[in-house]
Amino acid sequence: MGVRLSTQRSLLAIALGFGVAMGAHAASTDIGPLPQVKINAKKAALGKRLFFDPRLSGDAAISCSTCHNPKAGFANRDALSPGYPGNKHFRNAPTVINAVHKKSWMHDGRLGTNLNDVTREMLTEDYIMNMDMRLMQERVKQDPKYVQMFKDAGYGEPSNGSIRKAIPEYLKTLTSKNAPFDTGRMSGSAKRGMKLFKGKGGCVQCHNGALLSDGKAHNTGVAENFDIFRDPQRHQAFIAFNMFMGNENYMNLKRDVGAHVQTHKADGSDMGKFMTPSLRELKYTGPYMHNGMIKSLYSVVAFYNRGGGKDSNKSKKLKRLHLTNDEMNDMVAFLESLSGDRLTGNQYVSNEKYPEEYQPIANWKNVRN
Ligand code: HEC
Ligand code: HEC
Repeated sequence: MGVRLSTQRSLLAIALGFGVAMGAHAASTDIGPLPQVKINAKKAALGKRLFFDPRLSGDAAISCSTCHNPKAGFANRDALSPGYPGNKHFRNAPTVINAVHKKSWMHDGRLGTNLNDVTREMLTEDYIMNMDMRLMQERVKQDPKYVQMFKDAGYGEPSNGSIRKAIPEYLKTLTSKNAPFDTGRMSGSAKRGMKLFKGKGGCVQCHNGALLSDGKAHNTGVAENFDIFRDPQRHQAFIAFNMFMGNENYMNLKRDVGAHVQTHKADGSDMGKFMTPSLRELKYTGPYMHNGMIKSLYSVVAFYNRGGGKDSNKSKKLKRLHLTNDEMNDMVAFLESLSGDRLTGNQYVSNEKYPEEYQPIANWKNVRN
């Protein structure tokens, strides 16, 4: 009875609430399974070794996996990401699971070409891996194992270009596996949550498609994380970034402008918009939002139930939802059903253990003193 009632209510909400929004783009507001990806096993195995290898950072202290850690769903448990030693980042490290399915990357969507470019940015950015491209390929050539692996993968001699191709090949192996949403093994609560997600909750307006993301930027009014301004190591990275992006008045800026970097609107109406993230694998990737300001999925749902945060540019799509506590729990159960098997990083590629010196350094902060 309760179930049927909530179904009727959500259908009503669809009919009344966003008939207009859905009308023209009905197909794009569906949610569904991810497409398959073809993987070249030899290239992916090489990419995996590179992903976990700290020698790809300037002082050989951190690897991709320091911030995109398999133990945290290939994201990071810190609200704000670590950075290259001597720096810290000003955003949450997103998961790289399903990154291959995206069309633009970064919380502000500023990179819209391909994962080779994202990989280059990660390697060379001063406050991320601070790697000099002239040095990188020479370092890799010093390791006979790499020389062999590049040859076996069909790349010839190790080069910066092939490093930037092999890592994305490994990222292809990191996609959702066996999520109850995909296998159909959803609990009753998760199924009720899905109806709310599509109906009364209005989530599907922005979270749609196979990734549950419209690939666009919106302002949801997430509170600023002031650790960016309290911590000089974060603030210096923040200033360097904003200066490089050509953001006005960057020395005095006290907010992350988000997707403003794409549009630079003079009236500032694009300030504080962030890309709609995928909702897959959230079980492993908290805390949430571009700055890690929300700790749990229940708190995220509570945030939306209040109609989002406070911001003069906030999306008109967000309204108070009046969900009951049971409905909020159902919504959380649905979000959890979008997470599959915990990925160890060994999918489709060898689970060979690398020599100790190539392992990511667990607590690299201690490496320096
Ligand atoms: C020091 C921490 C750190 C390291 C090391 C690091 N990343 Fe990142 N990565 C981040 C942060 C933070 C972001 C988000 C940046 C932003 O939004 O401006 C990010 C974003 C990404 C994204 C985009 C994800 C998305 O959904 O938009 C990919 C892909 C990625 N990194 C891959 C890599 C690869 C590959 C490496 C190694 C070559 C690497 N990262 C090394 C912190 C790191
Ligand atoms: C107006 C578009 C919009 C609507 C409607 C919307 N979201 Fe979001 N959602 C976003 C954006 C944009 C972000 C990222 C905000 C940020 O990073 O600061 C986000 C972030 C999230 C996150 C955090 C994901 C992560 O990895 O950090 C979750 C969970 C989420 N939304 C669930 C929902 C649910 C559940 C609903 C419905 C109750 C909903 N969203 C409605 C746009 C929307």
